[in-house]
Amino acid sequence: MRFDVLTIFPSFIEDNPYFKRSIIGRAIDQNIIDVHTHDIRTYSKDKHKKVDDMPYGGGAGMLMTCQPIFDAIKAVKKLNKGPVVFMTPQGKKLTHTRSRRLAKLDSMIILCGRYEGIDQRIRDELVDEEISIGDYVLTGGELPAMVVIDTITRQLPGALHDGDSALEDSFTRKLSGKKEYPHYTRPANFKGFKVPETLLSGNHAEIEKWRRKHLK
Ligand code: ADE
Repeated sequence: MRFDVLTIFPSFIEDNPYFKRSIIGRAIDQNIIDVHTHDIRTYSKDKHKKVDDMPYGGGAGMLMTCQPIFDAIKAVKKLNKGPVVFMTPQGKKLTHTRSRRLAKLDSMIILCGRYEGIDQRIRDELVDEEISIGDYVLTGGELPAMVVIDTITRQLPGALHDGDSALEDSFTRKLSGKKEYPHYTRPANFKGFKVPETLLSGNHAEIEKWRRKHLK
């Protein structure tokens, strides 16, 4: 799956170790995902490469202007035919269901805002979907974009190894409202905190019974 991320801080994504190691790093190395970043500022026609301005009607804060974002999206649309997704706390909440739907796409363009937001005309004319990662306000859309890429990537075939897949099962079970039993691993006694005896017994019928009893 191809992601093109539009931001004024491409290094937040390009230089992020989170995208270089472990599951996401591996998915990039194995071409399961392809992450491209584009610096919105380089599209600004202003002589100082300005990308923001004061809001009409007054009020606090600066808004990202139309021109750089418009030109950036126009250019990136030639490389990526997917929907334009704008990260904003006003967007639709990112749930596991929504993430599964997004993971079916071949590509998407992710637009990250900064300052107080972006000019409404971009949202009205160029954005296909607005997504929020939760009811709190971050300083920009870059972290939310990385959250979207992470949750999509771990669902793509080949991204999780066998060991990780068990985790995937457990996550999906939890999120589909099914109950989950407590998990323990070695050592059996950690600083006096002990693993329930039954789980160490090797008696599979008893273990099954214990797990059923402790579902939550
Ligand atoms: N940008 C700032 N806060 C955000 C949030 N909670 N979700 C998505 N994008 C954002």
